[in-house]
Amino acid sequence: MKIERQSLSNRIVHAVTAMSIFGLFFTGFGQMPVYKRYMLNEVPFMAWTADYNITLWWHYFFSVVLIGIVFYHLTYHFLRKEFDILPKKGDVKHSTEVIIAMITGKEEPPSEKYLPEQRLGYAFIAFWIVVMIITGVVKTFKNMSGIDLNNDLIFWMAHIHNLGFFMLILGVGGHLAAFLFKPNRKLLPAMLWGKICSCYTKSRHIKWEAGIKQSNEVLKRHGGDEACKDYKH
Ligand code: HEM
Ligand code: HEM
Repeated sequence: MKIERQSLSNRIVHAVTAMSIFGLFFTGFGQMPVYKRYMLNEVPFMAWTADYNITLWWHYFFSVVLIGIVFYHLTYHFLRKEFDILPKKGDVKHSTEVIIAMITGKEEPPSEKYLPEQRLGYAFIAFWIVVMIITGVVKTFKNMSGIDLNNDLIFWMAHIHNLGFFMLILGVGGHLAAFLFKPNRKLLPAMLWGKICSCYTKSRHIKWEAGIKQSNEVLKRHGGDEACKDYKH
């Protein structure tokens, strides 16, 4: 009794973003330089991690992938006028209610396609990705021969880039920690295979019109709402 929640395009965007960001974490961290200090370069096949030119090359490589996927993501959703994931008024209050409900087992407020904390999580991660792209591009100019940038600009870009590194670790850490809550784990198949249970949709995402419509159609073939009567997310 499953319905489609995440299109193939969304799943590819999510996977490519996650892979490029993990790549940027790893290669950016290498420039600090940390791996030689902790002798990761002495582990078989990891000698390259202590080579600044190699980690920088890979940092540029993942940057290009990230910038490309960000452009694709923005264009795709603008053209299709899909804005379900943007924060709405009252999201902070409603997120607290959803989290309290998950801890206490009480009933939670109804959600749209995304839970309020998912919309806030998106805005937080998206904001810091944009900051990393802007500061990263300026840092790239600094590395090009023949381009002289103002020292204050270089100083601030470097510090904001480092702050963004920390904020994204917090953001991604918080995102993954959300799956410690059992009800949220039901969203994992949606990001992997695209599908989600229609009873889950009806019990948690009542304000997601397209999802409820699809769920009703699927459930009709299985005896209607009766099929979900014992369901608890
Ligand atoms: C750098 C790593 C990652 C980034 C930047 C990232 C970013 C995001 C964002 C912005 C969203 C939408 C807002 C939200 O649901 O909170 C999302 C959704 C999601 N992500 Fe990630 N993610 C990352 C890694 C992962 C990993 C490793 C997993 C799996 C273990 C995962 C599973 C999911 C799931 C299940 C959803 C919800 C999908 C839905 O509501 O249908 N993410 N991710
Ligand atoms: C998730 C995104 C990113 C993370 C977590 C990240 C992380 C880091 C870290 C930790 C450093 C080392 C600190 C430093 O040398 O100042 C660094 C350096 C750097 N990053 Fe990023 N970065 C990201 C995105 C980008 C992007 C998109 C670009 C380019 C468009 C970029 C370009 C650079 C450059 C040029 C350096 C300095 C290399 C040097 O001159 O030593 N970064 N990054």
